[in-house]
Amino acid sequence: MQGRVVIVTGGAKGIGRHAAHTLAKAGAKVVLADADAERLHKTLGEIQHALLERALQLREDSTVRIDILNEFEAYFTPKNAEQPEIHGGLAYSHFVESPEMDEKLKALKVTVRCVPLDAADEPGKCIFTGQPSNRRGVFAKSY
Ligand SMILES: NC(=O)c1ccc[n+]([C@@H]2O[C@H](COP(=O)([O-])OP(=O)(O)OC[C@H]3O[C@@H](n4cnc5c(N)ncnc54)[C@H](O)[C@@H]3O)[C@@H](O)[C@H]2O)c1
Repeated sequence: MQGRVVIVTGGAKGIGRHAAHTLAKAGAKVVLADADAERLHKTLGEIQHALLERALQLREDSTVRIDILNEFEAYFTPKNAEQPEIHGGLAYSHFVESPEMDEKLKALKVTVRCVPLDAADEPGKCIFTGQPSNRRGVFAKSY
């Protein structure tokens, strides 16, 4: 179902609503059609909410906090270098911009994706240089 487009008629309620939820969960792009516009919007909202919850859970499951360089390297290094498996996720780590950090990230093919602006200050040490840092960045593999 991944990526397929499915039109569900009578999708606001009953069997259609259930099918729409199931299809969306399976990765289909669901188009809902129904004579009851109000209920249709409610069902659409439920489906979108469920997808968002799922995405947030996936992000949570794929996120780690790393405070030691060795662990950071292991997290972003495939076990099989010949045929790299899918590895790594999002790593929250302290950092201060430096040539040492750039070199290490380049070797691992990792980049800083963002520095969450709404995160509370959290004193720590840059995992690359040991310099004091009061913020974590979000690191991820760059493909
Ligand atoms: N529920 C059962 O056990 C069952 C078993 C066999 C067959 N069916 C058949 O499956 C279909 C759906 O059943 P259900 O229980 O989900 O019904 P339902 O009443 O719960 O839902 C039907 C949906 O179709 C919409 N709809 C009705 N006419 C429409 C139209 N002309 N254009 C657009 N939307 C329209 C309604 O607004 C409603 O949201 C029905 O045809 C029913 O006879 C149901």
